[in-house]
Amino acid sequence: MSKRPSISFAKFAAVEEGTAVLLLAAEGKAAAEAESVVGHALLSRIIDVSDFKGKLAAGLSTIAPADTQLERLVLVGTGDPAKLKADDWLKIGGAAFSKIGKAKHVSVVLALPGGDVSAENAADFALGVLLRAYSFDKYKTKKGKPTENASIEKSSAKITILVADPHAAKKAFAHAEAVAEGVILARDLVNEPANILGTIEFAEQIEELKKLDVKVEILDQKDMKKLGMGSLLGVAQGSARPARLAIMEWQGGKGKDAPIAFVGKGVVFDSGGLSIKTAAGMEEMKGDMGGAAAVTGLLHTLATRKAKVNVVGVVGLVENMINGDAQRPGDIVTSMSGQTIEVLNTDAEGRLVLADALYYCNERFNPKFMINLATLTGAIMVALGLHHAGLFSNDDTLAGQLFDAGQSTGEKLWRMPLGPDYDKLIDTKNADMKNIGGRYGGAIIAAQFLKRFVGETPWAHLDIAGTAMGAPATEYSQSWASGFGVRLLDRLVHDNFEG
Ligand code: BES
Ligand code: MN
Ligand code: ZN
Repeated sequence: MSKRPSISFAKFAAVEEGTAVLLLAAEGKAAAEAESVVGHALLSRIIDVSDFKGKLAAGLSTIAPADTQLERLVLVGTGDPAKLKADDWLKIGGAAFSKIGKAKHVSVVLALPGGDVSAENAADFALGVLLRAYSFDKYKTKKGKPTENASIEKSSAKITILVADPHAAKKAFAHAEAVAEGVILARDLVNEPANILGTIEFAEQIEELKKLDVKVEILDQKDMKKLGMGSLLGVAQGSARPARLAIMEWQGGKGKDAPIAFVGKGVVFDSGGLSIKTAAGMEEMKGDMGGAAAVTGLLHTLATRKAKVNVVGVVGLVENMINGDAQRPGDIVTSMSGQTIEVLNTDAEGRLVLADALYYCNERFNPKFMINLATLTGAIMVALGLHHAGLFSNDDTLAGQLFDAGQSTGEKLWRMPLGPDYDKLIDTKNADMKNIGGRYGGAIIAAQFLKRFVGETPWAHLDIAGTAMGAPATEYSQSWASGFGVRLLDRLVHDNFEG
């Protein structure tokens, strides 16, 4: 894990040394607490000559005035303070971090004109800092090339955030810090190359959650064979590295309360199998376990902040490879549910893994609902681009709660349809269903396939192929792997299912 800047909170006071970060609202307006650092007149002049007008997440880094002991002055825009959403505070924090340069000692005056910055806003600002500071640099043996590795130096910065009520901010930050750790864990897992992170190694990472009092169980291939998971095992059979099913349980709620469940696709590498992928971009398939990474990161976050809810996470860990035992197009497998599947394309493997993982989760835990996350289809990127994940659900309430969590975290979802017209596209004469369904609506067809394994349980499927990896950088994510899903689902749980 990359080094993190250290963050603390203190009450508003004069900033006399190091780097000062001030917030600037639209039209260059600043709070009295910010103006007092360099004086109103000087601040106005800086704004005038720089043409910096306080646009949201815009930043300006400049030398500090000669008559102070400060090293550097950073201005970060917030736009209209009345319009700020939670996600905007992450952007402001991320922008601030990107502007501090090599500063080791940073004070942020977190004040805006006309209204208080809440403890939650302060915590979200800090979360933006931590997420912006992340970089996957463990394989860079030559640290310190400033252009490539600037974040390495910056990450040792000591950042003090000045607020009206540091006690409240600190409390809110405890939650935000748990979220940051979960997101960073998910990013690390997705960024890690597949030669290092195989199925066994992923399972070992999950076992680490035991330190947080998460109950962890790892099923091996023998266990899964006994359970009849022919669908999941068929995908794994062409790899030298055996499949695992990892089950995580966090008991933060009442003993007898049914858990809520999260299920993840954990294909540590997807070559496509015999229906092999083309060479261009195949390296990205090291991230085909983004769903499993999000579930693991989420459990890490929920356990760290001792969420008051019972949660299970189930992830299917396999590698889709090609050896002499590899699954062939035309093979028919029997899933744990008893339903048979004709595998017409070995590259539509994620649904085969999830079919058994979802069915198992539902049978064993009888959860209140199941949400699965999967980098499932290229088609979802064709449909929605890279700024929304696909949301499919058999339950309008759950879909609405998820949609809302997406709006407030900025991990946005867009609901896609399900229906019998799509469902019949996966009927086949040779078995109960086939694993592909024709040229159009590929993301919907994949969702219909999953739906056949969830029974009547409220369920949602998030297709995160476009958002978990390779999505455009943001103010708080410069990483190829975004960690998508952790913040979203932490918010869903916090807003709806804790007491
Ligand atoms: N893991 C891929 C989907 C994917 C593609 C994720 C690109 C991220 C980026 C999935 O297993 C897959 O190969 N899907 C096929 C399905 C098709 C064969 C029906 C696809 O999307 O092409
Ligand atoms: Mn595939
Ligand atoms: Zn895949």
